[in-house]
Amino acid sequence: MALSRRDAMKAGAVLAAAATAPAAAAPVHHAAVKSSVPVAKPEASVRERLLLDFGWKFHLGHAADPAWDFGFGANQRTFAKAGYGIATSADADFKDDDWTAINLPHDWVVDLPFVPSTKSYKPDEEDPRAAHGFKPVGREYPQTSIGWYRKVFDIPASDLGRRIALEFDGVFRAATVIFNGYIVATSGSGYRSFRVDVSDFANYGGKNVLVVRVDASLGEGWFYEGAGIYRHVWLTKQDPLHIAQWGTWVKSSVTGRTATLSIATDLVNEGAVRTAHIVSTVFDPDGRVVATLKSPELNLGAGEKRTVAQTSTLSSPRLWSLEVPALYHVLTQIVAKGAVIDDAVTSFGLRTTKFDPAKGFLLNGKPVKLKGTCNHQDHAGIGAALPDALQDWRIAKLKEFGCNAYRTSHNPPTPELLDACDRLGMLVIDETRRMSSDEESLSDLEAMIRRDRNHPSIILWSIGNEEPQQPTERGARIARVMKRRCNELDPTRPVNAAIDNPDAWGKGIGPVLDVIGANYRTPKIPGFLATSPKSIVIGTETGSTVSTRGVYVRDKASGYCVAYDTEAPWWASTAEAWMKVAMPDSRIAGGFVWTGFDYRGEPTPFNVWPNVSSQFGILDTCGFWKDNAWYYKAWWGNEPVLHLFPHWNWTVGEKINVWVHSNLDTIELFLNGQSLGSRKMEPYGHVEWDVTYAPGTLEARGYKDGKLVLTDKRETVGAAAQILLKTDRGSLAADGEDAAVVAVEIVDAEGRVVPTASNLVSFKVTGGALLGVGNGDPRSHEPDKASQRAAFNGLCAAIVQASKSAGDLRVEAMAPGLKAAALVIPMKPAKPRAAV
Ligand code: GAL
Repeated sequence: MALSRRDAMKAGAVLAAAATAPAAAAPVHHAAVKSSVPVAKPEASVRERLLLDFGWKFHLGHAADPAWDFGFGANQRTFAKAGYGIATSADADFKDDDWTAINLPHDWVVDLPFVPSTKSYKPDEEDPRAAHGFKPVGREYPQTSIGWYRKVFDIPASDLGRRIALEFDGVFRAATVIFNGYIVATSGSGYRSFRVDVSDFANYGGKNVLVVRVDASLGEGWFYEGAGIYRHVWLTKQDPLHIAQWGTWVKSSVTGRTATLSIATDLVNEGAVRTAHIVSTVFDPDGRVVATLKSPELNLGAGEKRTVAQTSTLSSPRLWSLEVPALYHVLTQIVAKGAVIDDAVTSFGLRTTKFDPAKGFLLNGKPVKLKGTCNHQDHAGIGAALPDALQDWRIAKLKEFGCNAYRTSHNPPTPELLDACDRLGMLVIDETRRMSSDEESLSDLEAMIRRDRNHPSIILWSIGNEEPQQPTERGARIARVMKRRCNELDPTRPVNAAIDNPDAWGKGIGPVLDVIGANYRTPKIPGFLATSPKSIVIGTETGSTVSTRGVYVRDKASGYCVAYDTEAPWWASTAEAWMKVAMPDSRIAGGFVWTGFDYRGEPTPFNVWPNVSSQFGILDTCGFWKDNAWYYKAWWGNEPVLHLFPHWNWTVGEKINVWVHSNLDTIELFLNGQSLGSRKMEPYGHVEWDVTYAPGTLEARGYKDGKLVLTDKRETVGAAAQILLKTDRGSLAADGEDAAVVAVEIVDAEGRVVPTASNLVSFKVTGGALLGVGNGDPRSHEPDKASQRAAFNGLCAAIVQASKSAGDLRVEAMAPGLKAAALVIPMKPAKPRAAV
């Protein structure tokens, strides 16, 4: 019998041993979310870094038949001759007219239909296809697991002599990069950023054919991973003597009112012997120059690589914090014969971090509880291919309910996610994909740290997650090597791994780590800390209530959980169970709830068709709040919260379990003006009543110290009558990239959300593009790339993208029998990013 991943884990453990007075928390369906904060940032002007996202062609290939794969691999000849006969699609005169025109980022899997298993499963048996969300990708589906990307572009004759490189932020996975007929790179992990120097192969003054074959036959995770060139691609043009990729590292320390900067710049000379010096100009968060550092004259030999060290002291540094995420920048310039020949801008932040066995986590000397969430990278409607604006949007969404930390489970994220965390004030655990000390895994780890170490948001490097080797000596050996590599590349941050077998807290990898990550097993943490008082433990995966937005009656056959904080898988706990242990205990620095958003794949708790998405999220796949979001807001945030649920549209006489999440001390419930009694709120708890349903108004009144602070109400609403459209974006940049989430509410004649509405909504978008649609239903099999979506419990969403021309982006939403709605988002003139 095949073991499920969960069985293997168990085996491994055994083997190894309505607001009135004042406004209450009304349902937040895409309320005002700040999408980004302006940052005074200098710009590089000599080096060209051009976005290579636009104007691609795409076609599926075939993993098993070269005839359907443009001849790739026919007759075992792929690597026989450099630059010859690799694939017909790589030929300059190949006709790609019948290929689909696309822009990056692109995920072809989100576009594939859901495919149910033909096999039936016993109760509690997991369907292996569930892991990736029932999409036809992997070895069983050779005809939909290979993607070909093709782009033809000019490189001017004047570029001859410069170094031309392609930078891929991430391709899922196993890319074969073919440039002008040459295989110039093959990549492995789909989460790794990589660079390919193509200077030798370029046609200067002519057309260049870039073809990327992407093979997603093998996955890397047990969750939806998407497939394709799902992150940005860049074309860089530099002087032969240039700053290496990720070649500027600003290491800082802050003591009292002084910050010391150690700036290391990696130079590469791919030309003849040169003499040059470097100038590092440091800008404060307002864009004012606060230091200018000039190196001595350097003589660099042909092919030489050199790291230049510079130091500086800043007085009265402006510290990066969650409240004020102040960012500094350094402009690095290489100067030869009086001219700047290459330059780069790097942002960084000044802050101190410390994990203390008694006080938990300290940021700038002050204890900060880690109120974290783990997240995967996919989003409703668009899969793994997110416009940058969505990264900001998602981080802001998490912040709305008090989340202050993000674990990039289980892979290095796209760089823009980390930029968003830096700008918006979100702490990060950055995690590598494979916990192994083999050369490739170490190289992936190294790429992550080199790329990411300037981000002030990152507080920990994670070297792995729940590996079977965790309690073993072999595991310890691997962890030691990985930790040493982390320390060499960045001595400023501690090393962490996520462990689900508590035996490994005290043996195997646990003792190697600076910070032990406990996945679940919450009740065991205090006992462990009592016997190991010097250890530092955080919850790397905690809580993990499974819940369906807007559902209050469990329905296994349909695949729905309830939105009360009552159900968690055997290995996990409810939100309350986790919070009651972790929040009052200063030794526990905090933890990361599994998960912030629902994600595709791993459709727990049911793990069989028809479920296609997980139900762990505090938010659904669209980012709509489930009721537990108010629980976290109450106990993680600083404002009074009062949230009453469920909705109030039931059958007369039904017994309804009524809950209130609140941080006030006494809650009184009323049905149609009649008191149903008061309840005392215990810290990190909730209050509940069993109420016999009668239509009308259910109202909760929240008191603190005897004073009425908030009220909230649920009313019996009428039939669906109209559509409302909402967005948090007042305008978009007309740059062809900016994007907004448009929330759709199905409301009654009085404008109240109809909590059970499932109307089919059709969208018409003009002025911009409709990127995708979603509704947060964990078992919806409707297409994401479509112009219509059924509402799920009253809500659905569309993701729209700006065009490059200023004007109006207009979204219209229609449904039979409902009054239609229109929303206009002005697109303001903006300079599109330099692109090819
Ligand atoms: C953990 C794992 C996560 C996710 C979670 C579901 O074991 O690290 O990736 O699978 O379980 O509960």
